[in-house]
Amino acid sequence: MADTPTKTATLSIDDQTFDLPIYSPTAGPDVLDIRKLYAQAGVFTYDPGFTSTASCDSTITFIDGDKGELLHRGYPIDQLAEKSHYLEVCYLLLYGELPSATELETFENTITRHTMLHEQMQYFFRGFRRDAHPMATMVGVVGAMSAFYHDSTDISDNKQREIASHRLIAKMPTIAAWAYKYSIGQPFVYPRNDLSYAANFLHMCFSVPAEPYHVDPILSRAMDRIFTLHADHEQNASTSTVRLASSSGANPFACIAAGIACLWGPAHGGANQACLEMLKEIGTVDKIPEYIARAKDKNDPFRLMGFGHRVYKNFDPRATVMKKSADEVLDLLGIENNPILQVAKELEKQALEDPYFSEKKLFPNVDFYSGIILEAMGFPTSMFTPIFALSRTVGWVSQWKEQLADPQHKIGRPRQLYLGSTARDYTDIENR
Ligand code: CMC
Repeated sequence: MADTPTKTATLSIDDQTFDLPIYSPTAGPDVLDIRKLYAQAGVFTYDPGFTSTASCDSTITFIDGDKGELLHRGYPIDQLAEKSHYLEVCYLLLYGELPSATELETFENTITRHTMLHEQMQYFFRGFRRDAHPMATMVGVVGAMSAFYHDSTDISDNKQREIASHRLIAKMPTIAAWAYKYSIGQPFVYPRNDLSYAANFLHMCFSVPAEPYHVDPILSRAMDRIFTLHADHEQNASTSTVRLASSSGANPFACIAAGIACLWGPAHGGANQACLEMLKEIGTVDKIPEYIARAKDKNDPFRLMGFGHRVYKNFDPRATVMKKSADEVLDLLGIENNPILQVAKELEKQALEDPYFSEKKLFPNVDFYSGIILEAMGFPTSMFTPIFALSRTVGWVSQWKEQLADPQHKIGRPRQLYLGSTARDYTDIENR
């Protein structure tokens, strides 16, 4: 909890001055405390898009956008992607430290034992149109979990919060896989507790009752790495949505459904689908200059998807790992000279050499390469964002738990710069 200022800033308005405490974080820029500003000075601050506003204190994830650094509980993402695995990273995000072997075994066991969905939820899936986007199905089904798991919706009960966290992390792969199966008209595949988290997800997506399905360990490792790279990203739009929804005391399933809805947008989690569609639309390397010119044209709404980030003003460290993974997976699958990968690599090269992108510090982000891997694994583009959502669930849940445990937490209620009409009298319809 931030309560000991290290410095003070002075704000002067007309002939009055106001002292504002400054807190120093363990890493990152100092933070100016404006909580009492309105009470003392009668003014609000104005920050659409929260570009300069810290909405909470947190100990979970740290990003240094200039250095291109992402740390979970202090551990760099490239080390976690290389040496750890998703469920261990989940434990780290949820509980703050890497688990001992016994703690990890217990945690993995708990998650594995919660992967099945209430049997009646099948009928809920079946109520959707087959051609619904799997994200639409996920928002609905996750929101509906509060109608199925009443014993884990009391947020004042620590035990219930814990069970809800485990349920969400454990069931999300089943929900995403079933949303996919339903959309392609195949039977739902039940989870298998003898498989790892990632292998089980691949099994639920790609196996059919008619024949055995073998999960390739390299593919399940690549899947696990995609989960790990998306696990958390501090106060991004969907995480802030979860925190804002939770600030009213809403139940965990409703909050995570809100996060999924926010993630769906093409500026956020929907960018991986939009990026692959863009690469396919470009099609061949000779078309790249045309698309780069469009991205630079102020009168054209087109943007290079998978490029740019609110926080990273350098390489997104997740993109670096993802690019390596893309090479490995395509190699394993024997997809040589994949035309989309060629377009991606050449587009990255040409954009990085272009002053427009370097001056604006626009670099490839995590979504630039993830779609290529997912498509090579056999996922349709509509499943890219659901996979992001299932990976990010642990981040949302960890941040949600952190918020509820914070004694300072209160309902989120931004203010506004009102530019509308001042008070005026109602005019009867016949006089308008
Ligand atoms: N292509 C072309 N120009 C761009 C791009 C792009 N992808 N991204 C930003 N710009 C330009 C933008 O036009 C603006 O130019 P100017 O200063 O001349 O007006 C400048 O760069 C700053 O852009 P901004 O929109 O003010 O920056 P932001 O921090 O609000 O937006 C972003 C960040 C990620 C929404 C944006 O870069 C974008 O739309 N990128 C494409 C979508 C994408 O890949 N999103 C995935 C983000 S990573 C995964 C996740 O966290 O969900």
